Amino acid sequence: MDQELWVGQKREVPLPVFLILQRYVRNCRFNGTPGTILHVGIAHTRWATHGGPTEANAHPHSGCRRQLQVVHNGIIENYATLKEKLQKAGHVFKSETDTEVLAHLFEEILADGTSLPQAVRKGLQQVRGTYGVLVMDPAAPQQLIAARHGSPLVVGVGDGEFIIASDISPIIEHTSKVVYLEDGEMATITPAGMQIVTIASHQPVQREHESVEWTVDDVERGGYAHYMLKEIFEQPAAVAAAQQGRSIPERGLAKLGGLELVAERLAKVQRVTIIACGTAYHAGLVGEYMLEEYAGIPTEVMVASEFRYRKPVLDEGTAVIAISQSGETADTIASIQEAKQKGCLVLGIVNVVGSTIARMTDAGVYLHVGPEIGVASTKAYTGMLTVLALMTVTLGRQRQMSLVTGNRIINELKALPAKIEQILTQRAAIAKLAERYQAYPNFLYLGRKYNFPSALEGALKLKEISYVHAEGYPSGELKHGPLAMIDANFPSVFFAPQDSVYEKSLSNLQELRARGGPVIAVATAGDEHIGKVANDVIWIPKTLEMLTPILAAVPLQLFAYEVALLRNCEVDKPRNLAKSVTVE
Ligand code: G6P
Repeated sequence: MDQELWVGQKREVPLPVFLILQRYVRNCRFNGTPGTILHVGIAHTRWATHGGPTEANAHPHSGCRRQLQVVHNGIIENYATLKEKLQKAGHVFKSETDTEVLAHLFEEILADGTSLPQAVRKGLQQVRGTYGVLVMDPAAPQQLIAARHGSPLVVGVGDGEFIIASDISPIIEHTSKVVYLEDGEMATITPAGMQIVTIASHQPVQREHESVEWTVDDVERGGYAHYMLKEIFEQPAAVAAAQQGRSIPERGLAKLGGLELVAERLAKVQRVTIIACGTAYHAGLVGEYMLEEYAGIPTEVMVASEFRYRKPVLDEGTAVIAISQSGETADTIASIQEAKQKGCLVLGIVNVVGSTIARMTDAGVYLHVGPEIGVASTKAYTGMLTVLALMTVTLGRQRQMSLVTGNRIINELKALPAKIEQILTQRAAIAKLAERYQAYPNFLYLGRKYNFPSALEGALKLKEISYVHAEGYPSGELKHGPLAMIDANFPSVFFAPQDSVYEKSLSNLQELRARGGPVIAVATAGDEHIGKVANDVIWIPKTLEMLTPILAAVPLQLFAYEVALLRNCEVDKPRNLAKSVTVE
């Protein structure tokens, strides 16, 4: 990673593969003598928006006159208009990307003698859309410009070096001091240091650095074949960390420091709307069942990309909870802005400390599960469910929940890490199951009540990393369609723990078996009946019904992982997907 990258080089960068959207600058070292930069470089891992993943479309992009070098995360919405104007002015384009427009635009402004920082600032004023952008000029190699609007950008402040990235993962190996750029800000880095100004009005911005807690060990694979496997095995520790110091069991209370300032407003909340994407959305669905059953608060969960274009009915009595591992998901951010405008209390459940969502919400709770690097979310999901359970205790105890119930949930949460350990010991058995089932082209995942979201999440895991078609369905809906597909070649994974809907689940399971469909059941250890109806069983220890999704998640992650291995898929870098989706 200490390899230097020179201006204009286009090459595969050995950056941690998981950081699909990472844009970063490495080795921007100063030797202590102002005026001498030893190395400056920019590099980029592209997630294609405009133009296919080709060499010509790879970043950095340059102009045609001064060979300015630009890397960019985001989408330039008015790129077509800008491009046409620039082409009329004689600029020749080499790629299909929106990013290349920036390089030509800055060059055009530079032509009249404007300095690079001024040219970038003025150019960005003409741009509509989102960007985390870095600009270098080979003719003035003593400076590097970074600017942000709607896409994340973090500056690591090291010992004689600055490292800029779209999140902190590649930075922590070098420094724990970071400065987060805000939307509409631009930083100029020179041997004299870093100056931040606003893009709109050139106002200087003073910002102290913040300290990051994550360590290098946290972002290394530590002997595991894949980050995903490491993160699956970290779940006992992650679920413990997510609840560490966050409860007073004898009083049946959760103690969430990040919500204390809004405790009074929380007590008055009449409705909750949860917004999230991907796996975080599935966590939200579990939260909906928890909040309604235990806190008595009407709750609705919406995919953020839908929320932002609906006309959701929100008012001051609504608390909006945004759930996000990265804290940078573009659709979730846009939804938060909408909710804030409507005067709602907006809370975050976020893993990355200091991320955009953490900074823009009124209050919130961090997951504290450590960096999650595998694209398919695992420990962040179980961490989100743990935090949602604690939030349910907080909101519930402000309402009708008894001390005894609060105490019970807290004690059951504390017992989860050891129970997850027990599930992890079944890895070899799950690998064997994966061998038996990996050739099937389709899977149905089924569950009811708290484990309907488990079914969605199980199907998502399989799709994401093994490219096997899988559908998650509420098992009660089986007879309204999916049952038509079932035959001996269509297996199902059925979440059927011994909970309040166990009998119903068994009936649905029988319906599958009656049509010859092979079934893998995820069931409660000690259930003597399930083995008689399902073809195969994965056992999870007994826990409170509301917490079963935390345990159910682990075998489904392992199963997807093992199937992906057998199908030779790149587990940590599934094709076409990104860890942090910072574009709409
Ligand atoms: C991407 C990731 C998923 C993640 C989703 C939401 O699609 O691949 O694993 O669940 O984004 O991300 P967030 O960071 O907001 O939880």
